[in-house]
Amino acid sequence: MPMLKGKDIVSIKEMKEEEIEAVFRVADEMVPIARGEERSDLLHGYVLASLFFEPSTRTRLSFEAAMQRLGGGVIGFSSSAGTSVEKGETLADTVRMADGYSDVIVVRHPYQGAARLAAEFAEHPVINAGDGAGQHPTQTLLDLYTIKKEMGKIGGLNIGLLGDLKYGRTVHSLAYALARFRANLYFISPDILRMPRHIVREVERYTRPYETSDINEVIGDLDVLYVTRIQKERFPDPAEYRKVAGSYVIDLDLLRRAKDTFIVMHPLPRVNEISPEVDKTKHAKYFVQAFNGVPVRMALLAMVLGVR
Ligand code: NCD
Repeated sequence: MPMLKGKDIVSIKEMKEEEIEAVFRVADEMVPIARGEERSDLLHGYVLASLFFEPSTRTRLSFEAAMQRLGGGVIGFSSSAGTSVEKGETLADTVRMADGYSDVIVVRHPYQGAARLAAEFAEHPVINAGDGAGQHPTQTLLDLYTIKKEMGKIGGLNIGLLGDLKYGRTVHSLAYALARFRANLYFISPDILRMPRHIVREVERYTRPYETSDINEVIGDLDVLYVTRIQKERFPDPAEYRKVAGSYVIDLDLLRRAKDTFIVMHPLPRVNEISPEVDKTKHAKYFVQAFNGVPVRMALLAMVLGVR
């Protein structure tokens, strides 16, 4: 029985370590197909419903590329404009329809808990592509995959998560997964954007994170720095956003104080938190990371559909 067949991927917490490792093994096999060097019709005849109620570039395009690279079809929308949601249709009804038209559903929504709700109404597997400030499990899979490929391991590394730890869903999923893989965690954020306490408590079952607002204090210790954008759209008060906008800028001066093997990651989009001069350095891994979204999502789609 294929390991993930028929499963919903709503939170990374629900995936076992051996399931995550299995996704990485299948992703490795997918790389030549993701690059377009080999062709595949592994998912020929299958249809993905791609329901994006919130802006996305990488997540949506890499899911759709993943499905099409494997010979599958894609239906869906990239904003609720032009759909019956504008007429007042509920998420539950939209999902029930998509469920009837497809074999697997990917959903991104501004409300936390939306993917869980979708999974309750769909017979087919539902994959969470980001629910408000909640979780973003497929981003975590590609983040872990990238760290493992670039550094050869996850356990024992000193990994800093920097920026908007309060509203950033990528770091909510990632912190938990990194702790489980026994990384040493550093949470670096402005005071008002610290990691929510319920996530810190969960992380503390495995490791004690070091919390600071000063990147200079820890830069020399880190093997990996995961930078995030301040999530402007989630601030209830624009004045609060203005207080913390531009809190951190990763530049060459900072990199000079980092280890030789140090890498910088970012889920993207970036605004100004990584200076473009960093892109050309050997430390910059965010574009490789974005590419890794394709083989990882190919693996996940093939696995929940039960063909791998
Ligand atoms: C992130 C997201 O949507 O949570 N982007 C992504 O999926 N790569 C990060 C962000 O928007 O800052």
